[in-house]
Amino acid sequence: MAKNSEPNPVSMMRHNPANIPRRLRPVLSLDDFEGRARRHLPLSVFGYVSGGVEDDRSMRENRDAFARIPLRPRILRDVSGRGMQTTLFGETLALPFGIAPMGFSALAAFDGDVVLARAAKAAGSIAICSAASLTPLERVAQDGQSRWFQSYIPGDRDRIAALLERLTKAGFDRLVVTGDVPVAGNRENNARNGFDAPLKITPKLVWQGLTHPRWVIGTLAREIRLRGMPHFENMESVQGPPLFSRDLLRSKIARDELDWDDIRFIRDIWRGKLVVKGVMHPDDAKIAQDAGCDGIIVSNHGGRQLDGTVSPLTVLPEIRAAVPDMTVMFDSGIRRGTDVLKACMLGADFTFVGRPFLYAAAAYGEAGVAHAFRLLRDEVDRDMAMMGATSITQMREHAPRL
Ligand code: FNR
Repeated sequence: MAKNSEPNPVSMMRHNPANIPRRLRPVLSLDDFEGRARRHLPLSVFGYVSGGVEDDRSMRENRDAFARIPLRPRILRDVSGRGMQTTLFGETLALPFGIAPMGFSALAAFDGDVVLARAAKAAGSIAICSAASLTPLERVAQDGQSRWFQSYIPGDRDRIAALLERLTKAGFDRLVVTGDVPVAGNRENNARNGFDAPLKITPKLVWQGLTHPRWVIGTLAREIRLRGMPHFENMESVQGPPLFSRDLLRSKIARDELDWDDIRFIRDIWRGKLVVKGVMHPDDAKIAQDAGCDGIIVSNHGGRQLDGTVSPLTVLPEIRAAVPDMTVMFDSGIRRGTDVLKACMLGADFTFVGRPFLYAAAAYGEAGVAHAFRLLRDEVDRDMAMMGATSITQMREHAPRL
């Protein structure tokens, strides 16, 4: 007789290939989206999404670090009742992973910011809306039912306060302040491929457009026709300059002036949850906690800022040990269910994935993002079973003794 006669909700969720749209069936892993996005997108846009910085050492190390962590399974533990629900700031999420904030998403995928938010919500998870998004945050909050916003905070306090007021009015109550962009990274690939801000229409870009008509018609022209010329909508409390603008340099934010005093100032006036993203050192995690932050995201920006950093996975156990009671989230390099579990095993309460979700949106729209969620969810479920874990928190028991 079956020991557990209750239907297992996770196994009921597991995907039935017959329910997957035919064009998505050959997509078997998150990495499979990359090749499709590469073919669909002009090189300038694809390079912007896929690229790291300088020699891509940080980006490669992010993946290598996962490969170096071995898993040690436990067996015969009746894992039929396993579940991957996670509680984040009091909210129960169906999954231990969500979508990291990504700028210019609406340039890679039609209505990209809303598509990512809606698909995340439907999967029972979250997508963080980026400050560098081209969609007004009010629409992302409404159409995508999003509560998470990432900001590159403007350098003076009146402007910070005005932005926070705008966020609150729109319904966002989780603010992620990205701290690892005091200056822009040296992304040579953007310069080589003609992806520059402000975007200039060069013969190179025109050629890339002509050779990618599906993207021009289905994304760029559709975006302009339905929503007007894309603008930086959410850097501040008021709309920023258009994407194709000569004023962009003038409106730049003085990010290199930001320091922990600004975080403390934000803490004083922001009622919602406050998270700092880009933490790579245990001392910074402690400072964030002392400044009143509710959580941190351990991240090296997916290897897109400083080249040659240690990987966030490598520093995660030390950071967890420094702030044992804090909400510690993680991103950079997650591509597999085993990666999600490794990050949780080493101390993450929740994880985020960047590029693959944007590739999925670019190549297949919302159905693609839903499929990406399904693939990673099924991997986590399968891997938990083989690890002998019935919950995400149980993964901590598998951590190697330091
Ligand atoms: C990013 N990232 C990012 N981070 C942030 O705080 N604000 C932003 O606007 C952006 N924009 C952005 C655009 C694109 C195209 C990418 C790929 C990434 C970094 C992102 O939030 C996250 O840290 C990394 O993407 C995680 O690494 P993986 O999963 O892409 O390897």
